[in-house]
Amino acid sequence: MHMALTGTVLHRYERVASHLRHLIESGTYTVADKLPSVRSLSGQLGVSITTVLEAYRVLEDQGLVEARPQSGYYVSGGGLVTARVDSNLVVEDPVDVGMGEFLMRYLRDFQRRDLVQFGCACPNPDQLPSARLARCLAKVSRDLGPAGNLYDIPPGCEALRVQIARRSLVGPEEVMLTLGAQEAITLCLLATCKAGDTVAVETPTFYGHLQAIEMLGLKAVEIPSDPVHGVSLAALRQCLEEVPVKAMLLCTSHSNPTGATLSDEDKHELLEILGSREIPLIEDDIFGELSHSATRPHTARAFDRRDLVLLVSSFSKTLAPGYRVGWILAGPRYMARLHQLKLFSNLGSPLLPALAISEFLATGAFEHHVRQCRRQYARQVGQMTEAVERSFPAGTRVTRPRGGFVLWVELPAGYDTRLYYPKAVELGLTFGPGPIFSARGRFRNCLRLCAPYWSPVSEPILWKFGELLQKRS
Ligand SMILES: Cc1ncc(COP(=O)(O)O)c(C=O)c1O
Repeated sequence: MHMALTGTVLHRYERVASHLRHLIESGTYTVADKLPSVRSLSGQLGVSITTVLEAYRVLEDQGLVEARPQSGYYVSGGGLVTARVDSNLVVEDPVDVGMGEFLMRYLRDFQRRDLVQFGCACPNPDQLPSARLARCLAKVSRDLGPAGNLYDIPPGCEALRVQIARRSLVGPEEVMLTLGAQEAITLCLLATCKAGDTVAVETPTFYGHLQAIEMLGLKAVEIPSDPVHGVSLAALRQCLEEVPVKAMLLCTSHSNPTGATLSDEDKHELLEILGSREIPLIEDDIFGELSHSATRPHTARAFDRRDLVLLVSSFSKTLAPGYRVGWILAGPRYMARLHQLKLFSNLGSPLLPALAISEFLATGAFEHHVRQCRRQYARQVGQMTEAVERSFPAGTRVTRPRGGFVLWVELPAGYDTRLYYPKAVELGLTFGPGPIFSARGRFRNCLRLCAPYWSPVSEPILWKFGELLQKRS
């Protein structure tokens, strides 16, 4: 049995990882320091070599340490953005969100095939198994005949729910299909909040979270987040003392845009903090599968014993953004209400795309495809990070995510990345200007870059953009 799933009892390797993490956070080891060898730690702590190796793997996944071949493990952090999580945090009032015209222009540009889409957090369609999916679509359509043309009312296509349930180790009754993760988020907010309520989000956060909050007449309270450790739990605690938060909406693994992943311990603690106030967590796990290492992080939902986590995800980052197939995992506390809300919103999702994906999953091709994506994104993210470090103005800092494909770049103070957006489009690329990731329009000197369009062909255009930034023109 996985002990961590049952409560606060941790595996031995998790305790070793936690101990090492403490040594790093408390300054015993700082950036670029060599950490104790596997053999010496094993001796000192009286644990096996395998346990130490597993602990180092966990810390690597969290971006805290890096392995150097033939040399050992080092505290990582070269070029890492470490957001200022102010310990004397003043909790700001919740705000109405106004995402506005600029975001519309930015989103419309996603359609343009003449631009290099470094701004678009979607897979490159040329690298997706679209032809194979199309064959699955044709087959299910043929097999089903006219029945493929019926409404598919919530919870939606059983065959696909079973496939998702198997991969998440839950019952199919805990799965409801949606139109992508974006609709899943909206429905979860509707199930947990009413107009005027306040939702806690990390900052910076995915602009789609803010759009959903705005659309439903909710308010956002922004909790500082750090690209390595994720949202500040101390700041969250303080916020909850002062603000009546009704739900929290958060990417817990490979967050968009910071790439941060909460450790298992922090996921436990997050659930404790929220659970003690009966606040539901809407856990956006859309990038969870795309770890750059062989295993994906646990979801917070795996640790949930109060039925307070509603997990949302989709196939948009892995397989088929255009099929608009997403889902919610939820328990009895919210599921019946979610069925109603989905029915009220649009009766149900289209059946044929769901069946086509189910057919694809049933062949086992998905796992192979995801393994390929993980390797490819690790490579693209690494190369793009390096190019940013070399071509952007001195003083630029960039994240080194351990999963997903988005980079968060912090330019020196004084830059306003929104002003550079039209110039970038003239050069032939898009990027995500920092302020769209904050309800308060913060992060003017930041930007998000997405790696799926990175290639030797698109590389020179990023260098040109770097030159433009250097000129401050
Ligand atoms: C973090 C995050 N959540 C949700 C979504 C929405 O995904 P979908 O296309 O499945 O609606 C996105 C898309 O960019 C995202 O990045």
